[in-house]
Formats: sequence, C-alpha cells, structure tokens
Amino acid sequence: MNQPEKKILDEVATLRAELDDANYRYYVLDEPRMTDADYDRRLRRLQELEEAYPKLVRPDSPTQRVGAAPAEGFPKVAHAVPMLSLNNAFAEAELKAFVKRLGDRLERDGDELAFCCEPKLDGAAVSLVYERGQLTSGVTRGDGRTGEGITSNLKTLKSIPQKLRGKEWPERLEVRGEVTMRHAEFEAMNDKAREEGGKVFANPRNAAAGSLRQLDPRITATRPLEFTAYQLVQEMASLANIDTPTHSEQMSLLREWGFRVNPEFKVVKGACGVIDYCRDLGERRDALGYDIDGAVIKVDNLRLQRELGFVARAPRWAIAYKYPAQEKQTTLKDVKWQVGRTGALTPVAKLEPVEVGGVTVSNATLHNMGEILRLGLRIGDVVNVYRAGDVIPKVVRKVSPSRDISRNLQRRGTSLRRQGPSLRRSRPALRRWLKHGSRKPPVIAGLMRITSPSRCPVCHSQIERLKGVAVARCSGGLYCSAQRREALKHFASRRAMDIDGLGEKLIDQLVELDWVKTPADLFRLKAEDLATLPRMAQKSSDNLVAALEKAKQTTLPRFIFALGIREVGEATAANLARHFGTLDALMEAEVADLEAVEDVGPVVASHVYTFFRQPHNRETIEELRSLGLTWKEEVVGDRPQPLAGQTWVLTGTLESMTRDEGKERLQALGAKVAGSVSKKTAAVVAGPGAGSKLAKAEQMGVPVLDEQGFLERLEAWESGKEAAQ
Ligand code: IVH
Repeated sequence: MNQPEKKILDEVATLRAELDDANYRYYVLDEPRMTDADYDRRLRRLQELEEAYPKLVRPDSPTQRVGAAPAEGFPKVAHAVPMLSLNNAFAEAELKAFVKRLGDRLERDGDELAFCCEPKLDGAAVSLVYERGQLTSGVTRGDGRTGEGITSNLKTLKSIPQKLRGKEWPERLEVRGEVTMRHAEFEAMNDKAREEGGKVFANPRNAAAGSLRQLDPRITATRPLEFTAYQLVQEMASLANIDTPTHSEQMSLLREWGFRVNPEFKVVKGACGVIDYCRDLGERRDALGYDIDGAVIKVDNLRLQRELGFVARAPRWAIAYKYPAQEKQTTLKDVKWQVGRTGALTPVAKLEPVEVGGVTVSNATLHNMGEILRLGLRIGDVVNVYRAGDVIPKVVRKVSPSRDISRNLQRRGTSLRRQGPSLRRSRPALRRWLKHGSRKPPVIAGLMRITSPSRCPVCHSQIERLKGVAVARCSGGLYCSAQRREALKHFASRRAMDIDGLGEKLIDQLVELDWVKTPADLFRLKAEDLATLPRMAQKSSDNLVAALEKAKQTTLPRFIFALGIREVGEATAANLARHFGTLDALMEAEVADLEAVEDVGPVVASHVYTFFRQPHNRETIEELRSLGLTWKEEVVGDRPQPLAGQTWVLTGTLESMTRDEGKERLQALGAKVAGSVSKKTAAVVAGPGAGSKLAKAEQMGVPVLDEQGFLERLEAWESGKEAAQ
C-alpha cells in the first residue's frame, strides 16, 4: 500500500481541523464562515485522500460520521447516573410556591436565589459519553435507568462533536441534551416524504425519536436533526475536574467544548425573574422555529443544587413550567375542498373547535386525498391536531373511530346532504333519515367515507388528476372564480404589487360582483363605483384608487412574482428578472433558456414557458402595460452578486426606505432575506424599534448594522466599489 508522505499527512490533518471547525461554527456558534461549496470541496478531498491511504482513516474523522448498519437491534445500555424527569408547574402560583419552598429549605430569601431558565425542548433526550475527549457512547433516555445504545446514529449529527474541542475537559464526560428538528426542516422533510411515499411523521418530536431509532445510520444522516446540550452530568468521580460553581457556567463550558446550547438560556433572580422569563418565552414560543413544551427553571448554583438533592425521580432544584399542548384531540366533523390559486384542491378538515397551543383551531389542512387515505380518515373520527408556530394546523393521526355517529350526523345534517349520491347509496338507513329528517337519526356502524369531488366545488369544471401526482386540480383556470379570487389576492399582496387597501374581503366582493375578472380590471376601478360598496366610504375608495395608481410603478421581480406562475416564488422571480433583464425577453424564452436560470429546473421552466404561451395571460400583461404599469427594466447580464450565498435579516423601522425596498436592494446584490435570525444569518440590519431579533443577533454574535451603516454598505456594493467580506 502507498505510504503517505508528510505532505499528505499534513493536508489530512488540516482538512480535518478545518471541517471540524466549520461544523462547530455552523452548528454550535451559529456563525458560519465557510460556504457550503468550500465545505463540500474539502470533505471530498479528505474522502479521496482516505480512500488512497486507508491507513489514515480514523473513527473520528469528519468523513466517518455515517457508519454501517448494525446487524441486530440496539444494545441495552444502563445509564451511569439515571436520567430523571422534572416536576411540572402549570400556573404562575406554582412557580412562586417553588421559589418559596426552595428559599425555606435553604433558609434564605427565595427572591435572592439565581435561577437558570431555559426552553424545555420537545424532542428526544439522549446522553453522550466522552472518554479522553472522544465520543464513545450515545444512549436514548429509555426508562431513565436503561436506554438504547444508538452511538452510530448520533455520530451522524453534525451538532454532536465526535471529539471535544479545547483541552480542559475531564477524563470522562457525560453530556445530556435533546435531539430536535426545526419546524421548517420538519415540514420540508414531510412534504418530500408525502411526494415520494416515504415515512410521514406527526410532529417534530416523533420525527426526532423515529430518526434516532433507525437501524441504518445512513437514514439517520439524511434527517435534519439537531442536538442541544442542557446538562453536564456531575459524577462524584469526575467532579474534581469540573469546578464551575454554576449551571450557567457549565453551559458556557459545554459550548467551548463543541456543543450547541440553547441561545435562550438566561439567569434570573427570584420568583419575579422566573415568571417574567416564562411569560416572555411563552409569548415568543410561536416564533422560535422549533417545538418547546415549556420552560425549565434550575437553581443556578451547583452547591445549592447538591444541597437540595432529589425526591423520588425528580430533582428538587428544578421545575418545568408547561405551556399549552401543541397536539390535541378532537372530532373530524366534515371535509371541505378548497380551490387554490393554481386550481389545486386541498381538503380542509372541519373540526370540533379545540384549543391547540393557546389558539382555537376549527380548520386544519389534510394536504390531499393521499393524506386522507394514509391516515385512514372518515368523518366522525376522533383525530389528533398539531399546530406549531405559524404553520397551518394539521390533522396528524386518527385516534379511534367513534362507532356511534348519530350525534355527529345530527350536528351536521346539512353538509351531509351535500355529500351526495355515493354516501346515500352506501347508507340506506342514512338515506331514509335524510329524507325524513324529523325521525331519530340511525346508528350506523362505521363512519362516512371521504371522497374527492369529480367536479370543482366552485365552478363545476372537470377535476384533473394526473397519474402519480397526489394533487387534484380544477381545470377551470381563470373561469373558476375561486382561482381568480386567489390569483387577485396574490397579485395585490404586499410582496407582489403591494396594493394598499385592497384586502381579501374587498377582493371577494369585487369577484362576486364580477367587477374584476383579471388583474387589469383592478386598474379600471373607479372611486365613485367603489364608494357604493358596503363598508367602503368615499375616502377609502379614493385611497384605494390612489394606491392602485402608486402600485403601477413597480419592479420587474415584483411583477413577475405577482403574475402567480406556478412554483415561481419571490426568489425565482428575482432570478428570472436578473437573468433576462426584460419582461419581453422572459416572455419569449424557450424552455432551455429558462433552465439556464439559477435554481430553475425543468418543472419550473415548463410552468413559466406554458404560462407565457397562454393567450389570455399575454393579453392581461398587454392590458396592464397599456394601463400604465411600468418598471425599470433590469440591467441585462449578470450583475455583480457580492452577497450571493448570504442571508440577511431586516428588523425595526428604516427611515430612508421601507423594509421591502431594503429587501429588494439586498436581493439584487444576491442576498437572501429571512424573517428570523438563525445560524445562517450573515448580518442583521436593525432600525429603531428592533426587538427580539436584535437581541438574538447580539446574543449569537451576528454582526448588526444600523441604518447609516447599512446605507453606506449598500451604496458601496451597488456601485461595485466594495466586495463583501
Ligand atoms: S434538565 C434532572 N433541561 O425534559 C433534570 N431537561 O422532564 C434533567 N428537557 O426528558 C433535565 N429540555 O429531555 C432539562 N433544558 C432542559 C430540557 C429538558 C427538555 C426534557 C428532558 C427530559 C424531560 C424532563
């Protein structure tokens, strides 16, 4: 076998150090430095070298995160120190009582005690053991005493260091934490699974636990899992080596050693501090981007923790303050089919109203017919509904079918009638009841089947179902008032043409009255006509006409986005505008030209091509132009993109421009603009009134610019005088 030269050894060592460092910066510090392309290039080079010199392969090399599948299931592993649970508090009074109890027990004023408060992450708990700095074992919580050894699966998580950073760690270290999945990644994973017929998970917790219990680590490696450390296990034997006096200091130490800790952790004083933290976190719960089921309050001082000790299976020094559950049970009363902007039919579950995560839910999405079949749903079923963040509530599983549906039938007699012939045919008893509605409803074993309509529920056009595609579509196009309505709402929306004062309700009215059929009709509306509509006064009508006039001055990316071409979102619209420079060039582009645009594949290219080949679309565009719609054409050709690959966040108000203008200027320079600060954020622009996003950026060490600094940079980049760092 080839003997590696010193040069090769050095290169391998450098690559490993660089890759480990890149992972740490990305997954732990939330401060990525290396681009994905650079990361991949280094990883590939390291793989090549390790293939050429197999002797150099080491188990902790960044190439070795994905190992082979074990022959059998997972071994049972006993925890050296049991993994305990926490006592719960459901009301602020219980938090007060907790603080007082601890104060009494420690014979001091509870309100002088320092508490470390953290989100209670809703995922799967695991314990990691490091020996001489190397990850040797990773175990699930199991029953708290014994768990399952899932080391090879945990090694695939980039947020779990295989080798500790720094030096001052003890011989043996045990670190505990939660494996979770962020909402956005969970949704994307489920969407993909729905399309490809893979495993769909009910919620991020199930997805995390299920992904960790895969026998093949190659599958775990594809799942967007994240480990967050929340506890350094104090064993008497290793205590001597870790002499931090507080839990919060231990969290900082864990971060230095290479672990991600939750950026929301905070040390507060007394009951007031604890309650304020729980309230604040509860208010921001929906915006965090991951599931939490509460806040964990821990006495910060470790000596006091030891003094307080444990009762039964929970520590005296900690408590979990629980927030309302994000998954709740209710009854599926009916299914209605909604027609979207592109004609897609979405089944919407009509539910017995239920409070989920603090919000009353009576509608939930069922995605498509495939999902209804997958869940095995029938009307009358008892189902679980999950709601997280801003994501649309979902029916995630059937709990049990309720055998007696008479109660349900009584409640929803009218929509039953509309269910039509298939139902009546299959339910003679029901048919009799429907006909003679006054009699007692029949008790029928089994529940009502849900069928997808063969005609559009709005315009009665034929429904198209393509083979192998789960989505059914109304073929009515703009003939269908539902599609028209949605297309107009999209056209007028803030991120598209931004027509102030043209809300959804008004669009509904305008479509209903047939005053508006195409976007061009909007610009023909007259204030005196509008003023005759209910809830429209002369002033609001004048304002709307002025807003329409103002909206005529737009930008090419906005206009392309506003057209509502299938699968052309804001980013694709911006890419198309940049690539083609003019609308005419885009309208004439062939499929191959379209595929040459960044992030445009064959499917999107074909949607764009088809859209511009429809005579009615070309007519509408011509009419809009003749009504005075204009934009500055983009400069043809590739303009410099100094911010390509960077994600920026704008927060607070800006004086010299609107946030949308700032966003457009950043996008024109190649940046992506996101709504929340994350590990990928390159910089945050904070104007007056900036709140939690600014705080988060500061906490994470993300660079922050004020408006003046932002303007200076923008101008330098736009004039090409400065390249981004
Ligand atoms: S501390 C001895 N901190 O909550 C106490 N637990 O009921 C050790 N959990 O299954 C737990 N986030 O997985 C702690 N920041 C956090 C947590 C947390 C979530 C989970 C943990 C355990 C359960 C305890």
